Amino acid sequence: MDLKQLKAFIVIADLRSFSAAAAQTGLSQPSLSRLLKQLETDMGVELIDRYHRPLNLTEAGAFFYDKISTILTEIDTVTSMTQRLSAPSSILNIGFVPSVLYGLLPEIIARLKQSSPDIEVTLKDISSYQQMDALKSGEIDIGFGRFAHQDPWIQQILLRHERYVVALPKSHPLAHISDQRLIDLANNRLILYHQTHLPITTALTKPKPASANLTANTTVNPKSSRSTKSAASFSEPITEPLLHLFAQYGISPFTTTTVSDLQVALGLVAAGEGITLVPASLQTVRTEQISYQRLVHENVTSPIYLHTLKDFVHPKISDLLTAIYHVYEQRGITYRQQKFM
Ligand code: BEZ
Repeated sequence: MDLKQLKAFIVIADLRSFSAAAAQTGLSQPSLSRLLKQLETDMGVELIDRYHRPLNLTEAGAFFYDKISTILTEIDTVTSMTQRLSAPSSILNIGFVPSVLYGLLPEIIARLKQSSPDIEVTLKDISSYQQMDALKSGEIDIGFGRFAHQDPWIQQILLRHERYVVALPKSHPLAHISDQRLIDLANNRLILYHQTHLPITTALTKPKPASANLTANTTVNPKSSRSTKSAASFSEPITEPLLHLFAQYGISPFTTTTVSDLQVALGLVAAGEGITLVPASLQTVRTEQISYQRLVHENVTSPIYLHTLKDFVHPKISDLLTAIYHVYEQRGITYRQQKFM
């Protein structure tokens, strides 16, 4: 059994077709077929049922695919890490979720460049979840996200907790009231925008509905990526981050609309379509149409995490951490200083 055979098996299993696998790999169909046959002969197991189109994995093949694809990803990660160890790049590639760009990220990068003038930085907008693969492949050296991820390759440090504020249209009756309670917001349409959801293990189930006379309608607008539904229809774990915050207080908002990102959510608030919760650093966005108000709940916060690989820390990361703490101190932001292992 060798790597070539394993990679051929994975690509054939992924695409369920010898011709598609040949086009993707640049190998001929007979070569791919030979590699697969050698693997099956070595193992004494039929992995792919060739008598159906598209091709099917046998039961043993499905098991092998599941396990071996994880191992091959790990081999790629180790290879990429070893290459980076032998020739560390002077460029620091940073991945970030859009919400941190509205906050302190530009100031932190400016401070880093001021303290280390030789540093070269690239910035890439990438979801918290995708940052894990991007760190392993070497696409980024560091990721700033808002979710904790359990991954044996990744270390994360919690930088700080940022409070959520409520974003309301300026014409809303609550628009000028500060220190709002979640329960008072529950009968508004809540606009959801997170791409990454919480792990099922931390999710809550079945909050009380905000109002007793709810109907459990679900409507999906096929012309847009927005879907609208009554949040009272939940019976499964609540992994959506904003709904999870409400659920912590036993509240299920009246109706919700899901959109693709934070900018769209704030656009809908500006248009008077509903309300949303955003980290406080976003409260400078669209202030002509949106009023941002504090919440009374001190624990309704969004954490900011720094993620990096466990076994390969870019040499410039300690300078970056120093720049972050410098900005926090200048702004009087509370944080807990941490060091990388
Ligand atoms: C912050 O707002 O705390 C932050 C933003 C970007 C990178 C690091 C920290």
